[in-house]
Order: sequence, then structure tokens, then C-alpha cells
Amino acid sequence: MFRIINFLRVSPCFPVHLRVTALFLFVSLNLSAQKNPVFDLIPQVNPLFKSGKEFSLRDTIFVYHQPNKKGNAEYLKFLFEKYFGDSYALVLGEFETYLEHESPYKYYDLQSPRIMLFEDSKTGDSEFYQLEVSEEVISIDGGEIGLKRGMNTLIQLIGVENDYFKFAPVQQDIYNFKRAKKSIGSPLDSTNLIQTKQWISLQPMIIDDHPKFSHRGMLLDCARHFFSVETVKKYLDLMALYKMNVLHWHLTEDQGWRIEIDKYPNLTKVGAWRTEKDGTKYGGYYTKKQIHEIVAYAMERGITVIPEIELPGHSQAAIASYPWLSCTGEQVEVVNDWGVFKEIYCAGNESTFEFLENVLTEVMELFPSKYIHIGGDEVPKYRWEHCDKCQNRIQSENLKDEHELQSYFIQRIEKFLQKNGRELIGWDEILEGGLSATATVQSWRGFEGGIKAAENGNGVVMSPTSHCYFDYGLQSIDLKKVYEFNPIPSELEVQFHKNILGGECNLWSEHIPDEANLDSKVFPRILAMSEVLWTAPEKRNYAEFYNRVQEHYPMLEKLEVKYGLETTPAKIQTFVKEGKIYATMVSEIPNATYEIRWDEKEMELDGDFTQFEKLEKDTFEVKDWKLSVKVLKNGKPYGEKVEQFFEFHKAIGAKVTYHSNFSRWYPAAGEQALVDGRVGIIDFKDGNWQGFWGEPIDVEIDLGSIKEFERIFIRFFQYQNSWIFRPKSMKIDLSEDHLTWNTYQDSDFGEEKSNNEKMIWYDRSNKSTLNKARYIKIHVENYGKVPDWHEAAGQDCWLFLDEIIVK
Ligand code: ACM
Ligand code: ZN
Repeated sequence: MFRIINFLRVSPCFPVHLRVTALFLFVSLNLSAQKNPVFDLIPQVNPLFKSGKEFSLRDTIFVYHQPNKKGNAEYLKFLFEKYFGDSYALVLGEFETYLEHESPYKYYDLQSPRIMLFEDSKTGDSEFYQLEVSEEVISIDGGEIGLKRGMNTLIQLIGVENDYFKFAPVQQDIYNFKRAKKSIGSPLDSTNLIQTKQWISLQPMIIDDHPKFSHRGMLLDCARHFFSVETVKKYLDLMALYKMNVLHWHLTEDQGWRIEIDKYPNLTKVGAWRTEKDGTKYGGYYTKKQIHEIVAYAMERGITVIPEIELPGHSQAAIASYPWLSCTGEQVEVVNDWGVFKEIYCAGNESTFEFLENVLTEVMELFPSKYIHIGGDEVPKYRWEHCDKCQNRIQSENLKDEHELQSYFIQRIEKFLQKNGRELIGWDEILEGGLSATATVQSWRGFEGGIKAAENGNGVVMSPTSHCYFDYGLQSIDLKKVYEFNPIPSELEVQFHKNILGGECNLWSEHIPDEANLDSKVFPRILAMSEVLWTAPEKRNYAEFYNRVQEHYPMLEKLEVKYGLETTPAKIQTFVKEGKIYATMVSEIPNATYEIRWDEKEMELDGDFTQFEKLEKDTFEVKDWKLSVKVLKNGKPYGEKVEQFFEFHKAIGAKVTYHSNFSRWYPAAGEQALVDGRVGIIDFKDGNWQGFWGEPIDVEIDLGSIKEFERIFIRFFQYQNSWIFRPKSMKIDLSEDHLTWNTYQDSDFGEEKSNNEKMIWYDRSNKSTLNKARYIKIHVENYGKVPDWHEAAGQDCWLFLDEIIVK
């Protein structure tokens, strides 16, 4: 029934007799429609197979479109040329062209395969489409954007479902062979060709398809690193292929201003360039012409570009261009480091708002998007706290504090955007100090901000760090984790679900210097994001999705996408039993196999690193300082080798009681982490480091019986850029009976100087002596507040440790 209605939606200029034919065709074929179990498309669609002959793709395919609707036909021609080279020639024409010359009733007798595009501007869901394959005709029906989605489905049907890309290496030969045969006029040897998949056939079917969420985005940070117009366009094509519809274009940052603004030429003369630590210049920007080109390119693909102009924070490149924008007015440099920086726009100066309004006016001229993203995240309030103008503003506007000043700032910008017919979207910090009823919130610090905003009636885009930060490593966000993403959290009541517009994957580019790196971060994870945002949850299944992903690799290779891994090749899980450490290999790769090697601490530099031995059983005793594992997928090495370092000592497996709380973001192995023998590398996110935020470390260890030892030392992580400081002080007490306590160590480590190295720190001052104890009480004082000389002055410090080693 639905299909009939759908055909009648075809625009009135479409000839009546064709509609009748189409109706008739539907009724006769759809009777035997059946559900298809497996299909290789991403995002998954829901086809109904029909009986009847297959559609065969030949050299020449006629594409018919309605009068004045040539755009989508041209896009289809572009897609065929992009994906299938010169395998097929598409000839475009209006329906009328044909009808003027031929009887409409001969329409279905045409020898050549045809694609009919029915563009209906009145479709309810602008992304809905219906794709029908019959013996000689493929018809795609939908709104202007829906048609684009349907065309990309067709590309995947031919290219992935029918293995065009898998057989692409032999394609050219067969194609030449076919041509040669044709030129001498002999019939084609179709058996031979079908075997090699040159003549692709599509089964008769109907696909009705529409997205679960209307906002399916990817954030591309072109500020930390600059990406060329060609790279941005490549990504727009890839997004279209996977039905993503929003490019969230992060254009301004502390490290670079990337958008040409006529009124403020210094933004690109000065703000677009930074001097790297090695003295080289780095930068670039997009001219207005290039931005027009990108916005138009996106629009042709049904993708909206939402620009992000960060305020009031992440704005040091603008301040470097025009120092009067800041509280101090002092000249600063475009930042050449990563982190959060305290130079922000002064909220007390009227000239700040005049500047931002002028900038946003030019931004709105370039970008037709309904939303303008204004950032709003990570705004250190230090400058505002120490600025007379900002403090005056707090008084004159009757604001409580700097958080309300931030809210004032955002709401003033929002009013300006609204006056210009646009809507504001910002990161979840815009909730702090009060949110207007009309702003849209992008939730990144977990789901909580998004939940609060949705309950408040505001629109929400979900992109929590837990699932959506594709700049993070696979140890925290792998393909499966992305597939588990649901933009609608289970705790959100049903009446608020409508406020969740969708989600985004975020590509912050601090550690993405070039396109190859970008490819490896985005792919294959964006395939999971695409399906999560498009396909209804009840139709999703990870194991089945994983198999489909494998079928997409030949296409990505053809497109020269340097896709990365699906997951860390394996995790080395460990447990302690009777003082011994055991390891178990765990991998998300189906049927993974392993080869391992051991290294002693002293031997590492002399070892023969090619020697690995096959692992015969999954669980085995940890024998040495370093375990290296090669993971094999289908018998072939998969990714880099996985390593874990160990320290063997007398507290391994001891009972630990916590009197302070580690952060739920950095739990390592939880309550056993500090005595599990696992030690970390120079990466505080490696899963071995336990983090305490603004808290001391207060633990007690029970060795189970009185033991003799020479020394206790604790490994701490230090990385001031990430607010991770070494301890302020440390006190260790020992007891044999839990009644009498002796102080083993009581040290104050004093003030800390600026040092941006990542390092593993431990107190080298305590001497080896013979000690005896059963109980060890440890109190490590947190450094406290980030010191004044630091960009994040006044924030709580982190304290990270991986192991309490009792030697
Ligand atoms: C963010 O990641 N600072 C939005
Ligand atoms: Zn100020």
C-alpha cells in the first residue's frame, strides 16, 4: 500500500500514463516480495526481494530525470565515473525527451537498462528514498536529498554487494576483451564475463529507507592541523557514501585561524600561522572562494556544513592577530602546543562583541546552515577573574560569577544569530551559568549534559568522549565500542527522545598531521557511526555488521582510503593467583591467533626481536619483564605487536583498601591495579595508570603475613599539559599488627616548576634498608591546584600512579 501512495507522490509534471504503468508493474511484482536475510550495505537497508529477472548493468545506462531536475542525474553520473571508471557510460535525458519520440507504452520494451529518477520535493522526510530494481529499470524515488542517499545505496549495491571492487584488478582486461569483441561485432561470451563479475546483475528488489537520526555528523578540526580543499572534498564524498549529512567544520582555535574574513585581514595574515617548536612555520587558511566551493560541493551531496567559530575560549590565534580582544591587551603568539589556554576574549570589552558580530556576519554569508557552532568549551576563567572590565560587566549585569558571565557572553551571541535567522549550537559547557531555551547543545563530556539539555527541551547532538572521539586510540574506542553508541541514553525518558537530533564523531587533529593519519582514525570506525545513526537499533547486530565491514575494504582500497585497524589487535588481561601473575589474550578479532616472546629487563637491547613463538594456550604464567604479542587475523599479522611490562614484587596480589577515590575515567584495573604487577608506558591512557582528580591517594595494603623487604617505591606519571602533576608529599607507615605503626617515609617534594615532558616519576631519595611489615599505609598528597604559571591555573590537579612496588 505504501508503495502505491509513494508513486502518486511523484511530481505533477510527471506524465500520467507512466504513473499508470509503474503502478501496474508494482502490483504484478510485489506479490512475491520476500525478505532478504543478509545484505552487505552500510548503513544496513531493509530490502524486499521480488521475483522476476535480474537487472543487468551494461556498458550504456540511460538515466531519465524530470525536467529542471538534472542536478541529481549529474550527481549519479559523477558517482558512476568516480566508483566504476569507464566501465559504464551514463546517458542523461529528461523523461519528456524520450516521450516526444516514442510511444509511452513501449517504455518497458527498451533494450538498454535505465535508471529513472523521480524527484519529489514534497516528501515528508527529506532523506527518505525508495529504490526499486526490476528487469530493465532501476527507479529511485525521493526528495532531492533522499535521491542522493538512494544513489549512494545503488553504488554500494553494485560495488560491494555485487563485488565489483573485489574483482576490480581483473576488470580492465575483461573490459578490453569485451570491447574488442564488440568492435568485431560478435556476440559477447556472457558466461565468461559473469564469472569474473564484469556483467553485474542486481536482483529485483524494493528498498524503502530513511534515517533514524536527522543529524549524522563528523567534526573535522582543520585548525590544529590544516587539511587541503581536496581532502575536505574527499571526505564529503566518503560521508555521502555512508549517508552522513553534517560536516562540522572546526575552523578557529588557539593554534590557528582558518577562515578568511575581509574585515579583519590579520586573522589570516597573522592568526593562520604558527611558529613550531623547531622554528618552522605551519599554517594555512581557506579563502572565501574555497569555502564557497566546499559548501556547494557538500550541498550537491546532501551534506550541510556547520562552521564552528570558537568563543570565548580557544581563541588565542584571534588574540594574537588583534591583542585588544583579550583582557590584558598584551601581544601573544599563535599557540604551538596542545592543551587548554587561558587567553580568551574579554567579556568586558564592547569591542569584543563588535568584532565577533562582524566575523559572524561574514561567516553567515558563507554558510547557509541553520546552525552556527560557537564552541563554548574549555574556558579557563583566570583572565576574567583578574580583569577590571570583566568584573565591571559582572556587576553591571547583576551576574553571580564568571560562569554567569560565560552564559551572558553566549546568550548575547545567540541573540545576534537569531536576529539573523540562525540558531546557536555549542558544547555542553554552555549549560553552565544558564542556557537559553533555544540553543542546541552538543554533549561531549559524557551524556549528562545532553540529558539535562534534552529534559530542558533543548535540541541535543550527542558526541561523548566515550564513543565518539575518533582521535582517541583504539584501546578506548574501537569499532565495537562505536557500534554500541546510542545517542539516546537509556535513562532519558521517552517524551524527551525527540530532542536528541543525532550524533557526531569528532576528529580533533592535534595528533592527526596528515590525510593518511586522518584516514586511519576515521576508517573503519565511521562505518559503525554511520549505521548507528541511520539504521534502527532493532536491525543492528555487531557480529553481522563486522562481516559486512570486511566486504567494504576492497572499495575503500580502490578509493585509496588508508583505513586503520578495527580494534587493538588484542588486550593482555592478567590476574594474580597465589602471588603469581597469569596472562590471557583477549581479542575482538574473530579466531585471532597469537605469537609471543619474552624479554628480560637487562637483555632488551641485545635480544633477537624477530623470534616469536606460537602461543599454544590462551592463559599462561607471566615469566618475565616484557611480554610482546603478535596478533594474526586470518593468519596474517594484524597491527603492531602488543606489549605489556611487569614488575615482580612482594605486594603482588595483596589486599588493597582505598580511603580516597580514583577517577572513573582512569580506573586502570580497579582496586587491584596498584599491586597487579602491570606497569605503564609513557601514555597515561594505556590502561595501567590509575588517576585521582583533586584527591589524595589514601590506601592501605595488607600483605597477608609479615614480610621482609628492602624498599617501597611508587611510580607516578607526570604530564603538566594534561594537568597531571607529581605528588606534593608522601607518607608511608608500616605495621606488623595494625596497632603499632612506624613511619617508613615522610617526604615533602616542594613546589613544581614548568616542565612539559611526559615522564614517569618516583622518589629516588629513600634508601634500601631491611624492613618487616604486614600492613602498609600510604598517603600521597595531591599537588592541589594547577599553579599560576600554568595555562589552566586554578584547576584541580591530577595524580596518576601505576604500581606500589614492595621490593
Ligand atoms: C571538546 O572536546 N573540547 C569539545
Ligand atoms: Zn576582560
